[in-house]
Amino acid sequence: MKLLEERIIKDGRVLSEGVLKVDSFLNHQIDPQLMQAIGEEFSNYFKNKGITKIITIEASGIAPAVFAGIYLDVPVIVAKKNVGITMTDELAVADVYSFTKQTNYTISISKTFLNETDSVLIIDDFLANGQAALGLMEICEQMDVLVAGIGIVIEKSFQTGRALLEEKGMEIYSLARIKSLIDGEVEFVG
Ligand code: G4P
Repeated sequence: MKLLEERIIKDGRVLSEGVLKVDSFLNHQIDPQLMQAIGEEFSNYFKNKGITKIITIEASGIAPAVFAGIYLDVPVIVAKKNVGITMTDELAVADVYSFTKQTNYTISISKTFLNETDSVLIIDDFLANGQAALGLMEICEQMDVLVAGIGIVIEKSFQTGRALLEEKGMEIYSLARIKSLIDGEVEFVG
């Protein structure tokens, strides 16, 4: 997606050979116009896949997921990292290992929001090692829910996530695919 690649070049900052900071439009301050364009792009790609719900993980997946939800006209479910006192329904739970933080965390979705007739689109802000998406897939498996595809805003193609998810038969649509972050420069795939 040209608009997104241009924005990454303009406002992204390469923090190291593995990390891109995009706090000014995606992870901290959010650009609603860009999120709207991103939502429309995901919708155009996935509109014929019979998607009934979108799932994402808090926090930075929420903005792109909600805009995609507007265009696809489906509800958006946010997997929670912290279970609040109002989450009294039975939960589907998965453990996620974060390579970045080198810790495990748990994600939970209330079982009331998914059923076996659903066909789900997973949306997230970054694809690095694919662990977050794998956790969401595990929850869908527990609920007998089909995962129809995965939409990613920024994929770091030099990490293992895409290969891991493709091995599981997943179709992944990433709006920006980063080949490398060497010498402070962002190089895109293709
Ligand atoms: P994985 O799910 O693909 O295995 O990713 P990993 O554990 O490595 O990433 C953990 C967190 O770091 C995720 O956010 C992920 O989106 C984010 N992340 C990974 N690589 C980058 C990067 O290069 N730049 C930025 N800005 N973020 C990156 P999180 O901790 O769940 O945070 P949030 O969603 O609450 O913002």
